Amino acid sequence: MHQTSVGIVGCGNISGIYLKNLTSYAQTKVAAVADLDLNRAKEKAAEHGVAKAYSLEEMLADPEIEIVLNLTIPAAHHQVAMQAVNAGKHVYNEKPLTVERAEAQELLALAESKGVRVGCAPDTVLGAGTQTARELIDNGEIGDLVSAQGWMMGSGVETWHPNPVFYYKKGGGPLFDMGPYYLSAFVTLLGPVSRVTGSTKTALKQRVASSKGNEGLVIDVETPTHIHSIIDFAGGAVAQLTTSFDTMASGGYPNIDVYGTKGMIRVPDPNTFGGPVLLKRQGEDDFTEIEVKRPYSENSRGVGVLDMALAIQSGRAHRASGQLAAHLLDVMHAVHEASDLGRHIAPVIAGVRPEAMPATELQA
Ligand SMILES: NC(=O)c1ccc[n+]([C@@H]2O[C@H](COP(=O)([O-])OP(=O)(O)OC[C@H]3O[C@@H](n4cnc5c(N)ncnc54)[C@H](O)[C@@H]3O)[C@@H](O)[C@H]2O)c1
Repeated sequence: MHQTSVGIVGCGNISGIYLKNLTSYAQTKVAAVADLDLNRAKEKAAEHGVAKAYSLEEMLADPEIEIVLNLTIPAAHHQVAMQAVNAGKHVYNEKPLTVERAEAQELLALAESKGVRVGCAPDTVLGAGTQTARELIDNGEIGDLVSAQGWMMGSGVETWHPNPVFYYKKGGGPLFDMGPYYLSAFVTLLGPVSRVTGSTKTALKQRVASSKGNEGLVIDVETPTHIHSIIDFAGGAVAQLTTSFDTMASGGYPNIDVYGTKGMIRVPDPNTFGGPVLLKRQGEDDFTEIEVKRPYSENSRGVGVLDMALAIQSGRAHRASGQLAAHLLDVMHAVHEASDLGRHIAPVIAGVRPEAMPATELQA
């Protein structure tokens, strides 16, 4: 069995769970970590038993590294990924793939010309919860798909996040931040998007931070903070997604509901890997909880990297793909533009519905 060597660049908040999982899978190995802050990389290497901690440039020159896992901040995603691909490495980015559409297109085109793969988070939708919901849909349990609704109703990040400013600048806001989870789930369940429209709003022009170290910091809000997206799918279903940092009180809400001609499914939080999955057939008063018995129900961030590593070996398509992430980036930009222009917009970057996950753990 070939053990794929992964090099992680960006040793911040989210890196710990990737290190934990990718050092535990039999088919992957974390061979090195890198960060602008070398001490941070060295600490992570020591904590997780990784042999090498060095600069990105050294990682790109290291013949052992096959996949560069890019966990840098969104503003650096494009440049770091382009450097990795130019060095002949496969690359897997945290979300969003890049900030701008043109950057995503440039990255995908370069990767194709170099014969390397581009993958992208989120891989939560490869988890047991969303995949169980998908199995119900694919088995025809709710009939033909009619519509979906998604809700991410929050009050913003400045009360808890250590670095809240970028969430209120261009490329931030609730759709770019949380939309990838919901939209990846939508495409997994309903297929690619054909056109969108939307309405956006900004309830507060300024935010006052209270998170540790930022007490009293005034943040000018330069991006919409409440967004209603209307989404049509190529397969014929329609959906609505509300993402908000402007709902200061909440009455409780589901995450995603999917409706068909014979029933509905209440889909679990797409920012998690497990259940519950609830099914209600036409004429039933109550939900039935469907047993979630697939693998990857715990926090399995990194399973998308594992899937890409195995896909490279066998030559099949990988599921958490750069193409899907680029499609969703296009969709998120298009919703904002549609609100400004007052019309529908069709995405220009084609989407693909990933293959369903197997019912057992991924194998070589
Ligand atoms: N923190 C979370 O809960 C979370 C959850 C899901 C996704 N994400 C995504 O993961 C990514 C990273 O988030 P985070 O919270 O870990 O950020 P972070 O700011 O904690 O860490 C980012 C790290 O990347 C390093 N870095 C930045 N630019 C670099 C460059 N050019 N070369 C080398 N190193 C560089 C920084 O020094 C830092 O250590 C983001 O895209 C974010 O959207 C984060």
